[in-house]
Amino acid sequence: MEIIIQPTADAATQVAARIIEKLLREKPDAVLGLATGSTPLPLYQALIAMNLDWSKVTTFNLDEYIGLPREHPQSYHSFMWENLFQHVNIQEANVHIPDGNAKDIPFFCRQYEEQIQAAGGIDLQLLGIGTDGHIGFNEPTSSLASRTRIKTLTQQTCKDNARFFGSEAEVPKHVITMGIGTIMEARQNLLLAFGANKSKAIAEAVEGPITSINPASVLQMHPVAKVCIDEPAASQLKRADYYRWVYDNKPDWQTF
Ligand code: PGA
Repeated sequence: MEIIIQPTADAATQVAARIIEKLLREKPDAVLGLATGSTPLPLYQALIAMNLDWSKVTTFNLDEYIGLPREHPQSYHSFMWENLFQHVNIQEANVHIPDGNAKDIPFFCRQYEEQIQAAGGIDLQLLGIGTDGHIGFNEPTSSLASRTRIKTLTQQTCKDNARFFGSEAEVPKHVITMGIGTIMEARQNLLLAFGANKSKAIAEAVEGPITSINPASVLQMHPVAKVCIDEPAASQLKRADYYRWVYDNKPDWQTF
């Protein structure tokens, strides 16, 4: 794991944007795994401002609420089109977001996995982290080998996401999410976390044992996992000084 601690969320966002920019310039037909939520929003704005060529890029989103109409302002379809896709030259046919209204959800989930495989696998998977350590919507105790499937949100996640809806009661309780096994097959994982409310989940994920109680901790087993965080999110890390020292002393050839 590479832990990149930046003074502010803005600075951490810029680091993440440069990592993705480099990938898209080196591999114009890259396959990106994308995330929603408040964390990646400024990253999407930064990427839009970079005027990159998305014409050959393929994307797979991590998750979607079940039962929310696609046009609902809080659906992840709406989120992605509003905040990224409509601002770049991506081809609609190359965009994949789980269909929370699929008639046969297990069948849809199997197909989603097959589509990822058919696209050549995910080059870079962008991740946020829940205050409970979830990645995608893989809540605590999710199988570390899981594939794309239906999950029930924890009460904590419903509470956390109530800010996007009128009330907690309006947050759908069920979702489709890529599995942890799916995420682990991405060639690179890039996890972003900002703010003190993420500091406990980050400390457990980075320095705690690998456990499904904190799903993000599985990234310790991933060969190329970068954790890009601001100072408040880093505030419970015991070895923060070491991570800063490593990043400050990276050889030039290993900038990313
Ligand atoms: P957030 O959500 O970016 O809105 O904090 C992160 C997550 O739940 O994965």
